[in-house]
This record gives sequence, structure tokens and C-alpha cells, in this order.
Amino acid sequence: MKLFLDTANLDDIAALAPTGFVDGVTTNPSLIAKSGRDMTATIAEICAMVDGPVSAEVTATDAETMLAEGRKLAAIADNVCVKVPLTPAGLSTCKALADNGTMVNVTLCFSPAQAMLAAKAGARFISPFIGRLDDLGRDGMGLIEDIVTIYANYDFPTEVLVASVRGVQHVVDAALVGADVATVPPAVIHAMYKHPMTDAGLEAFLKDWKDTGQSIL
Ligand code: E4P
Repeated sequence: MKLFLDTANLDDIAALAPTGFVDGVTTNPSLIAKSGRDMTATIAEICAMVDGPVSAEVTATDAETMLAEGRKLAAIADNVCVKVPLTPAGLSTCKALADNGTMVNVTLCFSPAQAMLAAKAGARFISPFIGRLDDLGRDGMGLIEDIVTIYANYDFPTEVLVASVRGVQHVVDAALVGADVATVPPAVIHAMYKHPMTDAGLEAFLKDWKDTGQSIL
């Protein structure tokens, strides 16, 4: 499963990009607002730091303006993936951009029926929001399972990109049900490193090593 970073914070991306496990980045208008920076400059900088797809979201709601925005965003760098909402205007924009070879991420997906429409519109990625569903007492991961099954039944090439991830278990469960990608906030990536037995084991190794009085270098 690919791991994308769900952030527009350049410091967080710069810190994690050298690890080799950052396969892409997703942003949205709220994340750009939180960064306090200019969107075009921010997307350009992220695209230079990460080789994989970098999602940049349109903000128009009508198809004509959305398509113009999508084309402008796509021109920022070769690895921009234009993000459109799961609305009739978003899906027609998805089709027009995809037909011209632009990667499109269809966002704000909350049902299997919506995911079917996005695949038929040529989306490269579908972004189901599992955390927001869980917040409502619904089964976010169940939605991922349903979409993975439907796409496999019909060989849809659209990749299932698990979004609105809230914790480590979401990432593990996404991999277990066969999602293609999880987009993960930096704090959750840092939590993925942690295990108390790793810390305790390392502490014991280092204590025993110190007692030997040796040095590798
Ligand atoms: C990413 O593509 C989504 O916009 C993001 O994961 C939404 O996360 P949130 O529900 O925590 O805002």
C-alpha cells in the first residue's frame, strides 16, 4: 500500500520525504489555509520535494470554472494530481481532465455509489473519508472494503485512496482490506514508528553495549 502525506506543511514534508516511504502528498483548501501560504507556490514546492502525485484541489463549484482551475493547477508541475469534489461538476471536470492525461483525485466520497461514478469518470484516485464517517458513528472502513470489492469486480483501474485517517489502526486496517493508498497526517506517521517494546529493547541493548566498553567506530 502506498503512503501519502496529508498535509500542506512544507517542514513536515521536508522532514519525512528522505525516509523513502512518502509516495505522494494530498492537500485540500483547509490544509492550504492552515499553512498560511500561497497555494500555487506551496504546491510547486511540494512537487519539487516529492516524486509521486501531489493533490491540489479546485475551489470553483461550476464545471467551466472548475476545469479552468484544474488546468491551471495541472500546469504547476508534472506530478500535480487535480482534486475535484464528488459533484456533477466535479465528475465532468474529472472526465475532461482525465481524457487529456491529467491525474484526477475525486474527493469527499462517502458512499460506494459515489465511488462507482468516479471510476466511470476516469478518476485516478477516489478519496473516501473514513474518519468523518466514523465521527458520525458509521463504518468508515466498511466503505473502503465495499469500494475495493466493487472496483475489483469490474477491474476499474481507479485507486482507492483512504482519506480522513485519524490513527495508526486506520492505516493498518486500510492495508488489510486491500486499499491502494492511505493519506496520513504527519502525526499519525510518527505514531506508526512507536512501540513500547522497541523503546524498551533498545534501552536494554544500549545498556549492555555500554557495559562492554567497546566502540564500533
Ligand atoms: C485528503 O485528501 C482529505 O482532504 C483529508 O484526508 C481530510 O481529512 P479530515 O477529515 O481530517 O479533514
